[in-house]
Amino acid sequence: MSNSASGNKKRKRILTGDRPTGKLHLGHYVGTLANRVQLQGEYEVFLLVADYHMLTTRSGKEYIQEVEQNARDLVLDYLSVGIDPEETTIYVQSLVPEVAEIFLIFSMLVTVPRLQRVPTLKEIMADQLIENPSVGLLTYPVLQAADILIVRADLVPVGKDQESHIEVCREIARRFNQVYGDVFPEPEGLFGGGATLVGTDGKAKMSKSLNNAIFLSDDGETVRQKVMKMYTDPTRLRATDPGHVEGNPVFMYHDAFNTDKEEVEDLKDRYRKGKVGDVEVKKKLIDVLYTFLEPVRERRRAYESKPGLIRDILHHGTEVVTREGRETIRLMRDAMGMTYFKK
Ligand code: TRP
Repeated sequence: MSNSASGNKKRKRILTGDRPTGKLHLGHYVGTLANRVQLQGEYEVFLLVADYHMLTTRSGKEYIQEVEQNARDLVLDYLSVGIDPEETTIYVQSLVPEVAEIFLIFSMLVTVPRLQRVPTLKEIMADQLIENPSVGLLTYPVLQAADILIVRADLVPVGKDQESHIEVCREIARRFNQVYGDVFPEPEGLFGGGATLVGTDGKAKMSKSLNNAIFLSDDGETVRQKVMKMYTDPTRLRATDPGHVEGNPVFMYHDAFNTDKEEVEDLKDRYRKGKVGDVEVKKKLIDVLYTFLEPVRERRRAYESKPGLIRDILHHGTEVVTREGRETIRLMRDAMGMTYFKK
């Protein structure tokens, strides 16, 4: 839709993205992909493959070597859940180095202790046994702010774990506007509906590294096996024992993906009374996930069969965002009075 077609009213903008570190799973869908798909008609959507961000913890050549394949998988995941490449601009972060210039200026507007207080920094350091963070890891949220503000985005749909980064971004936008004049919107985070999806093992979070994920690209048989092995209610020994629905991953997945709410309520009711076995509840879940994932797989197959498509999408996205980036830098320099020696 062109701007004139919509009565010259500019649509608000979304920017979000993911690091190219592997395939997306049902947790990503619930946490943020569903929002992204749903909002694409209403907003102008930008999706980035954040390879510079990947470098903050994975800078070795062995990781960089995998970026191209991982980026392809990521874009296919986007398209297969219903992101429309005609409606959405998808690009690779490092192909738009303008982001680095914006980052540089932003880095003057936030203090070191402020970044040291960002909780994800401590989490990553603890998880990956990092004693001394690199400057790049410390400034991860500043780079993320540059991603968001390079297109002057209004809304950022992300998982709840990114909340503290959005806060840094808002502070930087506010500070820039205060010091130099109004250039940026103060972007808002949009966090996925409800709780984070638990893993198939019942652990707090679905994650590739915990080996408890159902991927969007898993085939039917793989999904069936993963569901049959899923953790349920450990206190229940026989199907005739009253079972617990709360905190039971199988029911959390029913809540998230089963569109037949009556069936879910009926299953819960019978489960609590010891009138339905785990196997039946799991078989129903397998059907539900099949109904959800089969169209996803079909779209993936259709997109996969078009050679060169992903590359064309990313090249186009690079052009669009490069143009946006240059305009943003011009606005910033004008506001700052950094216009010396202009020809
Ligand atoms: N930090 C995000 C994550 O790990 C990825 C990301 C990088 C991002 N730049 C962004 C998300 C800009 C939203 C907006 O999930």
